[in-house]
Amino acid sequence: MVARVDDEMVTAKIPRVKGIPFIGSTLEMAKDPAAFFVRAYRDYGPVYQVNVFGRKQYVIAGVEAAKLMSTKKGRDGLRSKEFWQDFVDHFGASKTLTQIDGDEHRKMRAIMRRGFSREAASGRYHLLTEIGDKSIARDWREGESIPVVEAFQYMIVQMIGEMMSGDAPLEYVKDIRTNILFLLNTLVARVRPKFFLQSPKFKKASKRVDELGEKLIAQFKAYADTGELPDNLLGDVYQAHIDDPEFVQARDLSVLLTGPYVAGLDTVANTVAACTYGILKTPGVLEKVQAEADALYAKDTVTEADIRGLDYIQGCLKEAMRLWPIAVAQMRTTNHDLEFEGHTIPKDELIFIGTSVPHFMEEYFPDPFKFDPERFNEERREHMKPGVYAPFGRGPHSCLGQNLAEVLMGVIMARLFHRLDLSLDPPGYVLKTKSAPTPGPSMSFAVKVKGERNPAKNLIPEVLEE
Ligand code: HEM
Repeated sequence: MVARVDDEMVTAKIPRVKGIPFIGSTLEMAKDPAAFFVRAYRDYGPVYQVNVFGRKQYVIAGVEAAKLMSTKKGRDGLRSKEFWQDFVDHFGASKTLTQIDGDEHRKMRAIMRRGFSREAASGRYHLLTEIGDKSIARDWREGESIPVVEAFQYMIVQMIGEMMSGDAPLEYVKDIRTNILFLLNTLVARVRPKFFLQSPKFKKASKRVDELGEKLIAQFKAYADTGELPDNLLGDVYQAHIDDPEFVQARDLSVLLTGPYVAGLDTVANTVAACTYGILKTPGVLEKVQAEADALYAKDTVTEADIRGLDYIQGCLKEAMRLWPIAVAQMRTTNHDLEFEGHTIPKDELIFIGTSVPHFMEEYFPDPFKFDPERFNEERREHMKPGVYAPFGRGPHSCLGQNLAEVLMGVIMARLFHRLDLSLDPPGYVLKTKSAPTPGPSMSFAVKVKGERNPAKNLIPEVLEE
């Protein structure tokens, strides 16, 4: 691909993906973004250009692109700012973790690392299980057809509230969900026009979320005044605001408060919904999930080690993230001309990094469209080859909540399949997917609650050593 002319290296012309006049690849991409990136990779190679939503975008994809993200060249050559700027501006904030790079980003990640880590759930598995039970009692009634993604969105908002602020803001769940969906659709994924934010539904939800933000800020200020800031994400963020008000500014507190919901709501809800589909659809899987879940909840106390030890269920979750990744590609802007695989992507261009492309390649995952949780077991470890599996992204902005997400999703799946007897609704249902704001199962995906397998029973809290 690289030619030599008069001793100068010139890079090959970047191919353009053929599309429909004016709208380019918008429809193909909107229908199934993961399949689009794979198809274009097969047809054009690891570097190509697309026209989507009226924007010209460069794409680099495949194993080498995924690996680039974690190298110095990738770190120095790519920034995140533009993608999240409108979101930051909407809140009148100075920054969010997702929108800053370099030293500032490292500093903010360090502040938030503990609050987003698996330790945020330590000693709280009984509470998470109770939230799961409350959510099951409210949203998963026997004999009914359940809209799966929405039901999980409610469950996860409560869990994140518990983890991040020590309180599950039940009365705000609906508003948080509406707020996030509108903001992601208009300002981040940009698949809806901005005037959608004028809708009364959004304005009402947004006002309520602001109100929640103000309450929490007042509450955390009061804790700080008495020297009793709690050990959770908001406690750490508030402490950082006190220590360095120039860096964590007062006007940033509201967006930092909403951040965990933006990061966790759709990602987790879509993944556990996809996982539920894979479990119910694939012969032989449900029985193994139920056996593992029942063994877990035969215990009186559940610990982090127990949840991480759910090998089969964790395999199902990994497989759901391989087949239905919520981040099909990562979006960045080039800091300077970036050479990659014999091509040069010019400075200040928007670029998609198609990290999920290898997920669908036979070369790395034999029979790639088969839901096969055992790919990840010790004997096979198909995901361990460099660059082939990146559901949590790669590089400096890779998911800070990865370990926490894994345990939260483990609790959700184990509790649901321990408690309820579920089937696809209708029984032969074939999954429909959506692409916005987050790729995943369509909102119409439903399951039927055929009955209760085991009653709700409270766990004994884990006693943690100091
Ligand atoms: C299935 C669950 C999840 C998946 C697949 C996932 C995936 C991702 C991906 C791909 C990114 C990188 C985006 C980019 O580079 O542009 C990311 C970033 C992030 N995620 Fe997750 N995520 C999940 C759940 C969560 C949860 C539950 C939390 C915490 C509540 C969380 C917190 C974050 C944060 C804070 C970032 C931003 C990191 C940064 O910009 O430095 N995630 N996530």
